Amino acid sequence: MAMTELAAMNAPEVNTRPAKPHLPDAQVVKEVTHWTDRLFSFRVTRPQSLRFRSGEFVMIGLMDDKGKPLLRAYSIASPSWDEELEFYSIKVPDGPLTSRLQHIKVGDEIILRPKPVGTLVVDALMPGKRIWFLATGTGLAPFASLMRDPEVYEKFDQVIMMHTCREVAELEYGRQLVEGLQNDPLIGEMVAGKLLYYPTTTREASPHMGRVTDNLASGKVFADLGLRQMNPVDDRAMVCGSLAFNVDVKAILEGFGLREGANSDPKEFVVEKAFVGDGI
Ligand SMILES: Cc1cc2nc3c(=O)[nH]c(=O)nc-3n(C[C@H](O)[C@H](O)[C@H](O)COP(=O)(O)OP(=O)(O)OC[C@H]3O[C@@H](n4cnc5c(N)ncnc54)[C@H](O)[C@@H]3O)c2cc1C
Ligand SMILES: NC(=O)c1ccc[n+]([C@@H]2O[C@H](COP(=O)([O-])OP(=O)(O)OC[C@H]3O[C@@H](n4cnc5c(N)ncnc54)[C@H](OP(=O)(O)O)[C@@H]3O)[C@@H](O)[C@H]2O)c1
Repeated sequence: MAMTELAAMNAPEVNTRPAKPHLPDAQVVKEVTHWTDRLFSFRVTRPQSLRFRSGEFVMIGLMDDKGKPLLRAYSIASPSWDEELEFYSIKVPDGPLTSRLQHIKVGDEIILRPKPVGTLVVDALMPGKRIWFLATGTGLAPFASLMRDPEVYEKFDQVIMMHTCREVAELEYGRQLVEGLQNDPLIGEMVAGKLLYYPTTTREASPHMGRVTDNLASGKVFADLGLRQMNPVDDRAMVCGSLAFNVDVKAILEGFGLREGANSDPKEFVVEKAFVGDGI
């Protein structure tokens, strides 16, 4: 091949397309997975400066039709050591953000404000032996982060993930995550025997059924997993679901003698809303 031809092949490609304006605080979508017609997860690049504690949330979004940022709170579903950020999302058919966010593709940009906050962090709990993650629906997201964080297994002897959805398909993201963790070459050994997974459904038959609240109050989950009933000395809990779920779980945990804490005042359990509002 002639030198001139080679040089032409190696020359940088000139982009003649008009440059697309970058979004403020833009991150690039690296992967999108649709789990059901109302649930999807996606991964984006991580801002170099972003430090967060597993379990925290950030504001993410897209530009609206008027060119203004349309942002919503999202739990970071990936652990703090991950190079990328993962999110697990609902698709609300007429939701201002998710009616559009559900159509993102690899290479698209989203807005991500790099200011993580939240109460579902290990620091907001007093030391204990067992930690319970109690979630419904997309309330699993902060626990998808925490379940992948070695710090959780260093601080607790047992980690119990109770996740309840209406239907079996809605459990799949969590099920695959837990299965992957148990077989992971890096963290698998740490997780083995420590992470107990208790998925249930309420409106479709599955091996374990019933609401988180009912399975705690009746003692069924303790019997099924061979654990002692929760007590304030050994047990710590984190709760993330709808407002009604959070209120009902809180009453049950208090019945076991656990008290609600916060970042500034660590106690036996912490609560965070998975979303604001009553229904779609
Ligand atoms: C602290 C915090 C963390 C959050 N983390 C997540 C997350 O990790 N993943 C996620 O999908 N959403 C999360 N949300 C909800 C999220 O902020 C948005 O409400 C959601 O993305 C829908 O946005 P929207 O603009 O389409 O509709 P919105 O106008 O925000 O919501 C419309 C209606 O849809 C219902 N709804 C909203 N979100 C959910 C949901 N997640 N599950 C079931 N029903 C819902 C509510 O009834 C709400 O009134 C979180 C909310 C809070 C407060
Ligand atoms: N999931 C779907 O297939 C679906 C489809 C279309 C529209 N929607 C709408 O989307 C909205 C959110 O639905 P979602 O399924 O994500 O959330 P959800 O209604 O909060 O239900 C999620 C899970 O939490 C349980 N739950 C609800 N309230 C509880 C409480 N107070 N204590 C303990 N457990 C509780 C539910 O059990 P129960 O089943 O016993 O209530 C269900 O297993 C709803 O308004 C719904 O009408 C849902």
